[in-house]
Amino acid sequence: MYNLNDKVAIITGGALGIGGAAARKLASVGAKVFIADIDDSEAKKNVKRIEKSGGLATSSHVDVAEGKDISRMINEAVEHYGRLDILVQNAGGGVVSKAIHGSALDVDEKQWDLGINIYLKALYIGAKYSIPHLKSNGAGVIVNIASIHGILQEPGRFVYEAAKTGVIGMTRQLASEFGPDGIRVNAITPGHIVGERAAENWKKNPTGHKFFANQNLIGRTGTPKDIANGVVFLCSDDSSFITGHTLTIDGGITVQLQEKFAVKQAQYIIDNPDTNLSL
Ligand SMILES: NC(=O)c1ccc[n+]([C@@H]2O[C@H](COP(=O)([O-])OP(=O)(O)OC[C@H]3O[C@@H](n4cnc5c(N)ncnc54)[C@H](O)[C@@H]3O)[C@@H](O)[C@H]2O)c1
Repeated sequence: MYNLNDKVAIITGGALGIGGAAARKLASVGAKVFIADIDDSEAKKNVKRIEKSGGLATSSHVDVAEGKDISRMINEAVEHYGRLDILVQNAGGGVVSKAIHGSALDVDEKQWDLGINIYLKALYIGAKYSIPHLKSNGAGVIVNIASIHGILQEPGRFVYEAAKTGVIGMTRQLASEFGPDGIRVNAITPGHIVGERAAENWKKNPTGHKFFANQNLIGRTGTPKDIANGVVFLCSDDSSFITGHTLTIDGGITVQLQEKFAVKQAQYIIDNPDTNLSL
């Protein structure tokens, strides 16, 4: 059982999905949680859920696309709880990813700026304003949520993949520069994770969901809890010798040899011709 008693943790995008589950899991092992999200109503609901289970949480309206919101978020958390120990940089998700979809020729500079601001620049600003507090404690943890799109490509994900690859590089860099100050920085590359919003979409296409589940060696898509479990491990003392690392949590989708994988999926369609492949 992990023990994060009295540790203060900020989770960006902590209302729903991966961040929502990470907030609940951190609170369940004693952390005082600060949820930073643009969705005030869902953030408040998650605070209530945490409190109902005996945890401690608060929320604040933060848009990580805005640097000033991020520096305010750090100050607010420190003012509210008196210290800062953990920063989980997670905000983003399906809505943002759709808005920046396209190849280098399809996207415009506005879409590039939006994707890079939310998925990469926000993590730099978060590190910049949190590290002085972690340094003054002599210890601290940052967990950056990247994606398997930071290690493998899919057509149409130009901005997303540029940003998520950057997150992995930034994680190594921060770990090497601030390790001597007692600060550990790690990344997680989730595979296909079905949170509340994605689950609503998959309800409309259950055979398509099964097809995607079959791509994972584990035979199912991931849940936000699968990633939250990794977040808590990386925030705990059980990972005290792990830094600069990227932990892939993807049900095994990225370890498969591509030609075998393609044959397996082709066979799946032959066996299940009613599969609806629209996403
Ligand atoms: N779900 C997946 O399959 C998957 C896979 C790999 C990586 N990821 C990454 O995990 C992270 C979370 O994704 P998710 O699937 O849980 O998404 P989600 O849509 O379920 O939840 C995202 C949360 O972030 C918040 N948010 C969005 N934009 C924000 C902003 N500008 N400022 C503050 N909060 C904001 C939303 O309100 C929501 O609470 C993202 O960084 C995403 O790229 C997700």
